[in-house]
Amino acid sequence: MIGRLNHVGVATPSIEKSIALYRDVLGATKIHNRFKMEEQGVWVCFVDVPNSQIELIEPIDDKSPIAGFLKNNPEGGQHHICFEVDDLYAARDDMVAKGARVLGAPRIGAHGTEIIFVHPKDMGGVLVELMQKPH
Ligand code: CO
Repeated sequence: MIGRLNHVGVATPSIEKSIALYRDVLGATKIHNRFKMEEQGVWVCFVDVPNSQIELIEPIDDKSPIAGFLKNNPEGGQHHICFEVDDLYAARDDMVAKGARVLGAPRIGAHGTEIIFVHPKDMGGVLVELMQKPH
């Protein structure tokens, strides 16, 4: 039921500086406009790579959940990985049935479809985002 790797989430203290890295050092050419996700307390910017995307995430302020991550990782770092699923609610129920902790209710993610997060302690230390595959 695991689908395509949609994106890798990277927390950063500065989307501007991260864009420069991906563009100037790694040679990324398709960098989308940044946008604010008010409810998540973050700025988001997608960088396309040939087979996936990097999701740059910068906290809006100190109350952002990402602010805590950056306190422990001041230069930023890999924050989560996101897989597409065909049916998010079925995937959520399946995760719960298998004993994995799902963090919160399904909500609209950065791509405009519903997402959930699965606790890293139940995923070998990796925060996993599951995302309803766009139609
Ligand atoms: Co994400």
